[in-house]
Amino acid sequence: MVKLAIDLGSSVTKIYRADAGSGIVLAEPSCVAVSGPDREVKAIGKDAKKLVGKTAEFTEIVFPVYEGEIVDMRLAVVMLREFLSRIGIRPARLGRSLAVFSVPCGASSALTEDYAALAGECGLKKIRFVEAPFLAALGADAVLSESDPVCCLDIGGGVTNVAVLSPDGIIAGLSMNIGGNNMDANIIDRIEACKGLRIGALSAERVKNEIGSLAVGARGATVVEGSLSSVMRPGSVSVRAEEIEPCIRTYIDKILEYTSLVLEKLPAEVAAAVNGNGIYLSGGVAKLSFVPEYIGKKLDMRIHVCDEPQFAVVSGGGAAVRDDRLLSKIALREEE
Ligand SMILES: Nc1ncnc2c1ncn2[C@@H]1O[C@H](COP(=O)(O)OP(=O)(O)OP(=O)(O)O)[C@@H](O)[C@H]1O
Ligand SMILES: [Mg+2]
Repeated sequence: MVKLAIDLGSSVTKIYRADAGSGIVLAEPSCVAVSGPDREVKAIGKDAKKLVGKTAEFTEIVFPVYEGEIVDMRLAVVMLREFLSRIGIRPARLGRSLAVFSVPCGASSALTEDYAALAGECGLKKIRFVEAPFLAALGADAVLSESDPVCCLDIGGGVTNVAVLSPDGIIAGLSMNIGGNNMDANIIDRIEACKGLRIGALSAERVKNEIGSLAVGARGATVVEGSLSSVMRPGSVSVRAEEIEPCIRTYIDKILEYTSLVLEKLPAEVAAAVNGNGIYLSGGVAKLSFVPEYIGKKLDMRIHVCDEPQFAVVSGGGAAVRDDRLLSKIALREEE
């Protein structure tokens, strides 16, 4: 039987196939390019993302699943169907597969119904939902045990989840709409204000990922291209890591404020376990230089980061879809 884990991230959709040579089989931007009054689909995934900020008036880039919510069902179906076909699973086999979907922490029944409808439209019949923090914990190599709660912090493109959990459930946690996208937007504003160059979202993301760092005295630099505001023509400027450091730190500091709120509320024994275990950090933002070290220092706790933290949730989904007992323990409800 085909076994899949699907993480419909705000920035990137990831799919893990847990049968036949298990592993991550897809990671593509969660977007669709549409044009004209009928919103005809022009490109999906990486082909659509290349067009961000470059399209003419009638073309629009839509992120149909944003911050965990399905904001455009028709395009979410088009996108997921295409991704499932890109990984080469025939429709007949999809109908007999098992798929685990990551859903936001505390997902309402209306939200899981939306996910079920999306899955159904894509030909997936047997599905399970698991709240993202459980999967982040599994994928970040935390050992889930009733007697030893763990704390995970996942910082993605649109959402950050922090949760203290055991297989029994989430003991404390919250989700905030803060992530890498806020940093990109802030980089756009800052480069315009300080250097007089207007840059696009793709360039801002590249600058953040290439030179973004919370190291003291970070030395990276890059050249970025855009539109010079003063002369209204194309141009480029050089940007140093220290110039965009505040664009990253501001949001990490906000995330730490909320994380502290969760940690402060823990019952004493849970706090003791979390202190002993440290924090499991995941999500693409954990890849930015010195972000894990900064968080560890501010919280005065040990931080674990797995090899590819942006894939922690989907890898955790892979572990869950492979293990019936574990899955029945952490799945939200059954949907046939
Ligand atoms: N090397 C990297 N690979 C992928 N993403 C990176 C990397 N470095 C930084 N990032 C940033 O991480 C964010 C994407 O992270 P992730 O894939 O965990 O988000 P997501 O799961 O799509 O979104 P969310 O969980 O918020 O719905 C983006 O802001 C991206 O720019
Ligand atoms: Mg995510």
